Amino acid sequence: MSEERDYLLGTHDAEVERLGLQHRVWRPRVLDAWRRAGITVGSTVIDAGAGPGWASLDLAEIVGQEGRVSALERSARFVDVLNRSAAARGLRNIDASTVDLVTDPLPASGADAFWIRWVLAFVSDPAAVLAKLHAALRPGGVAVIHEYLDYNTLAILPDQPAMEEFKQLVVDDWRASGGEPNIGRALPALLPAAGFRIRSMQPIVEAVRKGDLVWQWPATWGHNYPRHDRCLRCRRGRPKRGLRHPDGAGDHRGEGLTGQRYGASSSRFRAISRSQRSPLASSRSLS
Ligand SMILES: C[S@@+](CC[C@H](N)C(=O)[O-])C[C@H]1O[C@@H](n2cnc3c(N)ncnc32)[C@H](O)[C@@H]1O
Repeated sequence: MSEERDYLLGTHDAEVERLGLQHRVWRPRVLDAWRRAGITVGSTVIDAGAGPGWASLDLAEIVGQEGRVSALERSARFVDVLNRSAAARGLRNIDASTVDLVTDPLPASGADAFWIRWVLAFVSDPAAVLAKLHAALRPGGVAVIHEYLDYNTLAILPDQPAMEEFKQLVVDDWRASGGEPNIGRALPALLPAAGFRIRSMQPIVEAVRKGDLVWQWPATWGHNYPRHDRCLRCRRGRPKRGLRHPDGAGDHRGEGLTGQRYGASSSRFRAISRSQRSPLASSRSLS
């Protein structure tokens, strides 16, 4: 069976689940950013690059029947998942469209706000996407953007060569596919050029132990990464089955979202940190 490959990690069921877990991990930050951006009952909001729509569903509940969510996503499979989830929850205020943000006109205009998370890092022309989204806002509309600032800050402590190799593999794949993981560094220049005024920027750093919910975020990402077996150091010292995560190469034991067990022995302290630009709110320029 051929697999739809709209973005680096694929659009299969495990990735739908992983994006759901990722959303639950980040939800407190997200809700705070939306609140600061003024998203409320009756708002019209674009979720750009919505994936299977985990954030769209939350947005739809917040804006209520008087508001509307326009979910724009390139993957038809993700759009289908989103439509089915919305129907299951009885949400009728989401318009989900299969759209390529780079090449297609956007089927949305006059929106109060847009939300975009971990999408600009994957597109070949983030400037063009920002310009289109700017045009889809009403004057004074607000953008909330969440992207990586420095992907290299993802680390397992004490340092692990397997993690470093795996991270480099991901970054190389990412750039070869036309994206830029550290897109957050470009945003202070790209946003004003697209007509935005930057109102607030917030770097987020997490340092967690394996018992934290946040730990499951990088853990499931490692599990789902396509062709992770190219990471030679990740394979060393692993049991034969189910070890596909770089942090499983050493001394960690855990359960991934999909239930595979990875790791072995010991309870050494480890931390994961990932510096990010965002959530970042900027308002549309009136000029
Ligand atoms: C890491 S996922 C993030 C999904 C969602 N924003 C979230 O935070 O849960 C990246 C998403 O961007 C979508 N995407 C990538 N390039 C796109 C494009 N040119 N147009 C529309 N969607 C795109 C992918 O299909 C994928 O659903």
